[in-house]
Amino acid sequence: MSRPSAYASRRNSNSGGPRSTPDCFAYSSSFASSEVSTVKSNSGRNPVAAAARFLIESFVACFAPPETNNSKSFVESDPPSVASDASGGGSRRPRVSITSSNSTQNNEPSNLRFTLKEIFQATRNFSPAFKIGQGGFGTVYKAKLQDGTVVALKRAKKSVYDKHLGVEFQSEIQTLSRIEHLNLVKFYGYLEEGDERIVVVEYVPNGTLREHLDCVHGNILDLASRLDIATDVAHAITYLHLYMDHPIIHRDIKSSNILLTENFRAKVADFGFARQAPDSDSGVTHVSTQVKGTAGYLDPEYLKTYQLTQKSDVYSFGVLLVEIVTGRRPIEPKLELKERITAKWAMKRFSDGNSISVLDPRLDPTTANTLALERILELALQCLAPRRQSRPNMKKCAEILWTIRKDYREHAASLSRSYSTSSQRSASLKD
Ligand SMILES: Nc1ncnc2c1ncn2[C@@H]1O[C@H](COP(=O)(O)OP(=O)(O)OP(=O)(O)O)[C@@H](O)[C@H]1O
Ligand SMILES: [Mg+2]
Repeated sequence: MSRPSAYASRRNSNSGGPRSTPDCFAYSSSFASSEVSTVKSNSGRNPVAAAARFLIESFVACFAPPETNNSKSFVESDPPSVASDASGGGSRRPRVSITSSNSTQNNEPSNLRFTLKEIFQATRNFSPAFKIGQGGFGTVYKAKLQDGTVVALKRAKKSVYDKHLGVEFQSEIQTLSRIEHLNLVKFYGYLEEGDERIVVVEYVPNGTLREHLDCVHGNILDLASRLDIATDVAHAITYLHLYMDHPIIHRDIKSSNILLTENFRAKVADFGFARQAPDSDSGVTHVSTQVKGTAGYLDPEYLKTYQLTQKSDVYSFGVLLVEIVTGRRPIEPKLELKERITAKWAMKRFSDGNSISVLDPRLDPTTANTLALERILELALQCLAPRRQSRPNMKKCAEILWTIRKDYREHAASLSRSYSTSSQRSASLKD
């Protein structure tokens, strides 16, 4: 099995892609255009090239500047509009009104407010010893509440808050207070006082998916665990899209936002960019909004049209699936040109019938792994379709992954049965 030699030189930092990555975009844009002309000129000749073109179109759009946007679009707050294809009309969810109380029993935002005193106590005045992470939003601390509950506490950077975080903070609070699912981080409360903005959520103890793909914690994540994680994430997003009173689009599905429990089950975090989905009963097909998300995971159609639907999360999920089986980050700037955009590279190899060459070199190319890899890439290809209508919905993705996982387990079990039968046979022959 051939393995790209440059693989070892990939970035190891857990950047996860900041919410605003101008350098990355500037770089990717020029790369995309040079790639496009090469592939487009070949695309009429064979089906592989056609498949490549369809992917390239997706990536071109992904890195083309939005039609009416400026370079800051990834961090600007949303315009207050919900549009339908026909009318451009619609409504937004009203803001929650906030009253002071610190009960965590009732799952209403108004009853989930923490005081500064409680927060200072829980973090020992934001002691650096309790700091567990740093992201685009601010600093993350591990803390213990007075009742003993261990929590993660996300403290917004003041500079970020001043510029654009107001809407995002409210968005995250509103969304978090409404969700309840095993595969989504639990919300405990928040603080909004002076220039402090803090979200208190369930502490998930085992790091991020990205860290595990990078083997930061020492162990290699086997394909069975990766399938479990992908299925958990699919269930979490299905819940957001289908089973909430007001469906939610996450908008920042990525490996650094997937936290793992001690049993390697996944919990999706970070609802700062989440938006209420259009109400399908009213005939509204999409929300018109500024583009937000992380470079490498962004739906090209959303980027081009500003039209947000649940299928934007499906696209990001497709990128995540490729990341899960290859171990690579969505953008690998240090690799040679044709390998830099991981999904494009992997889909090309898949279309060429060379899937095995994209398998994470840390995983063994066993029959079970190879079969599952093919099927995961097939699903990823569907999720990465340039047009949202061609992508499956999240429920369908979850069902497909469920079947892949079931077959994978059965395959592995039958192999281990036949292995133990044959070792028993050879042991009795020796006797
Ligand atoms: N609920 C949590 N439980 C445990 N650790 C967490 C939790 N939330 C965040 N972390 C840790 O804090 C780190 C930073 O998280 P944060 O969401 O702020 O940034 P990010 O996901 O890396 O980037 P971005 O700001 O683009 O989302 C995570 O990588 C993770 O290690
Ligand atoms: Mg995050």
